Amino acid sequence: MRIGLIGGTGSALLLPAARQRSLATPWGPPSGPLLEWQEGAHELCFLHRHGPAGTIPPHRVNYRANVWAMQAAGVDWLIGINAVGGIHRDAIPGRLAFPDQLIDYSWGRAHSYEEGGEHAVRHVDFTHPVAPALHAALVAAAQRAGIAHLPRGVYGVTQGPRLETAAEIDRLERDGCDFVGMTAMPEAGLARELGIDYAICAVVVNPAAGRGAEIHAEIERSLQAGIEAVQALLKALLAATPGQS
Ligand code: HPA
Repeated sequence: MRIGLIGGTGSALLLPAARQRSLATPWGPPSGPLLEWQEGAHELCFLHRHGPAGTIPPHRVNYRANVWAMQAAGVDWLIGINAVGGIHRDAIPGRLAFPDQLIDYSWGRAHSYEEGGEHAVRHVDFTHPVAPALHAALVAAAQRAGIAHLPRGVYGVTQGPRLETAAEIDRLERDGCDFVGMTAMPEAGLARELGIDYAICAVVVNPAAGRGAEIHAEIERSLQAGIEAVQALLKALLAATPGQS
């Protein structure tokens, strides 16, 4: 299997020595070179969502180029690794979460490959925004590895880069959001447009605004633990995944 990872804040800590490959796309350059390495029978392909130096804010990420590059690299599965704030009371910093639903509050992002003109517009089905088999494989891997996690939930995607007000988080909670982050959309929708199996591994790094202690101190404390949990998760996922696609 070839497994693509688009990693967010902190996920550089995941990387072993890797080959670098720069890919051009019809949508412009991706956030950086693809980093590729072998793990057992599997090939992994990683892209820093915010660029190798973490300089690209959520609203300036070229999501279309990133997802396109992953398809060009031939990934069978694409996993978005996203830091999130916790709204649900069980979304405690340091835990992983595997959202199975999204609400998109972001705006003004280039969010579709449908540009108009060449063919009749396709309206992809996005009822279930993450691929059920990949989502189930992630949850099963977390269970097997004994990683504290939330197996499902609703991820609300805000525009950022500022964090939310307490009232905005109250509204997201009323809407049914369990987590808040800035990057799962348009990434998930673009993967669906290209027919790529996509799922989200979220790392809860802070209580959302108005829900807990000082946000930045909490992010620094939990990011390392969260990334170590992602590392253990990937190991368990790869161990249980057949080598040939
Ligand atoms: N809000 C939005 N995005 C985030 C947060 C948050 O509290 N934490 C990490 N990403």
